[in-house]
Order: sequence, then structure tokens, then C-alpha cells
Amino acid sequence: MQVCQTIASIRAEVAGYRQAGETVALVPTMGFLHEGHMTLVRKARACGDRIVVWIFVNPTQFEKADDLAAYPRDLDRDLAMLRAEGVDAVFTPEAHEIYPEGAETIVETTRMANMLHGLVRPGHFRGVTTVVTKFFNIIQPDFAMFGEKDYQQLQVIKRMVRDLHMPIEIVGVPTVREADGLAMSSRNVRLDADHRQAALVLSRALDHADAIAQSCPTVTELQNQIASLISSEPRATLEGCDIVQAESLAEIDGPISGPTAIMLSVQVGPVLLIDQRVITP
Ligand code: PAJ
Repeated sequence: MQVCQTIASIRAEVAGYRQAGETVALVPTMGFLHEGHMTLVRKARACGDRIVVWIFVNPTQFEKADDLAAYPRDLDRDLAMLRAEGVDAVFTPEAHEIYPEGAETIVETTRMANMLHGLVRPGHFRGVTTVVTKFFNIIQPDFAMFGEKDYQQLQVIKRMVRDLHMPIEIVGVPTVREADGLAMSSRNVRLDADHRQAALVLSRALDHADAIAQSCPTVTELQNQIASLISSEPRATLEGCDIVQAESLAEIDGPISGPTAIMLSVQVGPVLLIDQRVITP
């Protein structure tokens, strides 16, 4: 497995694959890998001849400096996991090479970035689309894997790729969960035992919503049910519960019909957790 720290070295590595006529599947990550990321890696293996993973804690998508500083990192462990999975190359650049002195170009999905989670995290999705465009330009993959867990991110990236005519197939991968239902996340390590237990309220609320959605409730009815279930857990605070059309993320008027995304964000102790479910009543 090649570990490339510079743009020149990853470009040279990928050029070798291209010369051999091989396709490239990319897995973008911020590291501190878990089984969710590894599922994306295995999906990449099924898509392309070569797997490239990037590990880069992207500063422009964090709005608070302390959140960026608190982001967990363990590069040696990550590299060992990727080596064991048969990954071909890992790109771990320095921030100053990705954002050179004087950089001023941004990429933004103007509507989708500034709604839902984008309202509580201003600038977040602009940071994601800008860094993803840079890495797509550097690596030029045929396929790129993204998790449905970050549901708005997945839809934002699909929109950007369509709008900018990027010749890349975006592959969405269903959320990978712990045995008890908690969606896997690098942030889960910041939950103590008590908060870890409380965090189960997210998947419970989504299961409940899924069950009652079959009777075609309105968005408000579904939101009220979810809010009351979350409030039954005193250690959890509901920050957002968006119920929107699954692909466009557009608002829904009247009863729910057709593929619908439920996107939850819940503060549990020190961590803002997100989870989602696509339901089809
Ligand atoms: P990160 O949070 O490291 O996630 C990397 C990828 O793993 C994302 O596509 C995310 O949706 C996916 N993922 C995380 N947990 C998952 C789970 N439990 N099941 C399935 N997929 C999961 O998302 C980012 O990094 C960054 O925003 C990035 C796209 C790398 C840009 O900086």
C-alpha cells in the first residue's frame, strides 16, 4: 500500500494505474476509521480495479476551532486497517498544500448547502464541496463512495457532480450500525457509558417513525412523535428533525408519500449525533 503525502506523489501513483488501463474507486474520509468506513472500502473494491482512500481532517468544514481540534486522529491505526483490507493507495496531505496561500476559490451548491443541517452549520457544506472538488481533481476517480449516514452530504455531492459535469459515479452506501442500532461514527468515542446508552434514542426514534409512516401521517405529526420519543430520554436534546423529499431535500406539503428522508440531529452529552432513514410509505 502506497502512502502518499503530496499531490505529486498521489498523481504519479494513480497515473500508473491509468497506464495499466485500471479504474479507480475513491473513499474520502477524515480518518479515525471504523466499520462504517471499512464498508465503503469494501464497496470500492466491488466497483473499481484500484482503491484509493484519502484521510484529511478538512479545516474548512468545521465552524468551531475547538471541534476541529477535538476531532479524533490515529493515523497509524487507520493505515494498519487499510493495509489489512488490501487498499492500494492512501492520500494524507498537509492542509497547506490543499489550501495554498491566497486560495480564494470555493464550490457551493447554493440551495442544498444552505438548508437543513446547513442552517445550523453555516459554511459546512461549502467546505465539503470545495475539498471534495479539489480531491476529485487531484485523483480523478471513476467512482467515489459516500455513506447515507451523512445524508445531506451525499445528496449535495450528487448535485455538485451533476451540475459540474464531473465524470465520476457517486455510490451511496447504507448506514452501518453497532449491534444495538447506534450508527457508527468517529465521534462516538467521545460518549461516556451513560451517554452511549442514551444515544440509542436516535435509532429508536427512526424505527418508530418508520413504523407509523405506513399510515401516511403529515410531516408535523411525524415530527411531533419523534420529538416526544426523544424527550423521553433526559440526556438527549433534539436539535433538528427534518422530513423532506429523499433526493431533492425539498419540503413536503400534506401527507407523506414517496421516498422521504428523515434526518435527525440530537445533542447527547458533549456530542452532536446525526442519523437518518429513508422511508417509502
Ligand atoms: P467522515 O466523517 O470520515 O466520513 C467518511 C465517509 O464515511 C462519509 O461518506 C460518511 O458518510 C461515511 N460513513 C461514516 N459513518 C458511516 C456509517 N456508520 N455507515 C456508512 N457510512 C458511514 O464525511 C466526511 O468524513 C467528510 O465530510 C468528507 C466527505 C471526507 C469531506 O471532508
